[in-house]
Amino acid sequence: MTTMPRNGVDRGLAASVRRCVTRLWRPLLAALCVVAITGAVASEGEKPVARTYVMHPPAPAAQTAAAATQKSEGCVSCHTATDHRTMHVNVGVILGCTDCHGGDAKVAAPAGATKTDAPYVAARDAAHVPK
Ligand code: HEC
Ligand code: HEC
Repeated sequence: MTTMPRNGVDRGLAASVRRCVTRLWRPLLAALCVVAITGAVASEGEKPVARTYVMHPPAPAAQTAAAATQKSEGCVSCHTATDHRTMHVNVGVILGCTDCHGGDAKVAAPAGATKTDAPYVAARDAAHVPK
């Protein structure tokens, strides 16, 4: 009956693997610490950009279809080819253009004006949120 010194071999192997792992992990952990510290220092250097944010009321969760239509009235006199007026296929969404885009829905396209006519351009700019 032959007995292989299996356990002895395994134990020796296990020990060297463990040694190898600890040797590898220490520098790796040190490197990770350096990365973390430099990251923290770098983020301290960031400064927020000064901006003036204009706040608008949020789009309503619920409103009547009539109220929504009013908010689109002027817009759709120029924007005639919108496939879904709420930008949503779902008919359960009741929103007017200005709920999302802002602007003045009371401004409509001047009768008979083409896109390049001055009254049209003036109406367009009056309807849109000012730049
Ligand atoms: C008098 C015509 C006119 C009216 C009224 C109008 N628009 Fe426009 N809109 C245009 C034209 C033309 C463009 C194409 C881009 C351009 O030339 O500025 C445009 C572009 C846009 C765009 C695309 C983004 C951009 O800046 O190009 C959005 C969004 C938009 N309009 C929303 C609206 C909404 C919302 C309303 C109603 C409050 C509205 N528009 C009323 C003519 C009009
Ligand atoms: C639920 C919010 C919402 C509503 C309501 C809405 N829009 Fe939009 N609209 C968007 C968003 C978001 C985009 C940008 C989509 C993109 O870039 O893919 C957009 C894009 C547009 C554009 C630009 C398309 C392009 O090709 O650049 C126009 C014009 C426009 N909308 C007009 C309208 C008009 C007119 C109405 C009303 C009839 C309306 N929208 C209603 C959210 C909305």
